[in-house]
Amino acid sequence: MLLNPSVFPKESNCLVKKYLSQKIYKALKPVKTDSGFTLAQAIHSGIKNQDSSIGIYAGDAQSYDTFSPLFDPVIHEYHGFSKNINHKSNIGQISLPILDPEGKYIKSTRIRVARNLKGFSFPCHITLSRRRELEKKIMACLTLLKNNLKGKYYSFNHVSEKELERLKKENLIFEKGDRFQDAAGINSDFPKCRGVFHSFDKQFVVWVNEEDHLRIISLEKTSDISSVFNRLAKALPILKQNLDFAWNNTYGYLASCPTNIGTSMRAGVHIQLKKFEQNKDLLHNLAQAYHLQIRGTCGEKTKIRHAVFDISNRQRLGISESEIIQNLHAGLLSIITAEKNL
Ligand code: ARG
Repeated sequence: MLLNPSVFPKESNCLVKKYLSQKIYKALKPVKTDSGFTLAQAIHSGIKNQDSSIGIYAGDAQSYDTFSPLFDPVIHEYHGFSKNINHKSNIGQISLPILDPEGKYIKSTRIRVARNLKGFSFPCHITLSRRRELEKKIMACLTLLKNNLKGKYYSFNHVSEKELERLKKENLIFEKGDRFQDAAGINSDFPKCRGVFHSFDKQFVVWVNEEDHLRIISLEKTSDISSVFNRLAKALPILKQNLDFAWNNTYGYLASCPTNIGTSMRAGVHIQLKKFEQNKDLLHNLAQAYHLQIRGTCGEKTKIRHAVFDISNRQRLGISESEIIQNLHAGLLSIITAEKNL
């Protein structure tokens, strides 16, 4: 396929560069979504950051249709599909054995989903006033959460310096997006109209106006994946009743980044694997076999510290939430067994 040499730097290996042929470039260049989002905006981050692996963001739900000649092959390759996808969601309560009851390996479990609201541009293309509207709408909805989901919203607008420092120390707020998000436009007007909601027990968190309108997170210092998932499964229907989430039948829940569509779920653990640290290739092979992804200790594109790996699902599309959890459980079980035997 003919690449467009004028658009992407030579060094770039991102998926968008691979699939942006001259023909597609010409066809999509003059096109805009109803909210005015263009191809140039969509691929700006990929052009600016030569080390992008994907290189494209959606500015609104419609981007996935308007720019489908580019999004489709990128999505097919990233998510491993060659044919039509019919995404179905299945979020029910689950019950799986606790993986590491003594906490020898698994330090914590975190499951998040991304959600965006219908009718609002996505964070790389939204105006400040619409961000404000969105924040208000989401805040109102969060007050409906009851029992152990009940909590408090900390708006970055109003929270004091001291409180912000404390939240940062406890790893309870999100920071300004990285250079990939920055080039996409996601950081515009930061920190205005951003905030985090925490349940009083700190095990349920919602990020507002980060890479997606909502990042809904359940987390615990445990290896009890079911408990973490069930909390999320309890919260999501309440939010869904009151917020209209962007969804399409092919790609499921729509997100800013095409890696996050489908279930838009990342379920993972922080796991200490001292033996595997000396044998990373083996770990990567095992993770691959279970469709798991390995990230650095402090998140995406960071290093491994004290042998603590962040291991999570790689598949999010064409697979249900429950299946993802089962695969993660099976994969981690086999990783822990292998670590013991090394
Ligand atoms: N845009 C970046 C890239 O292409 C990040 C992709 C996945 N990460 C994310 N936070 N959406 O490498």
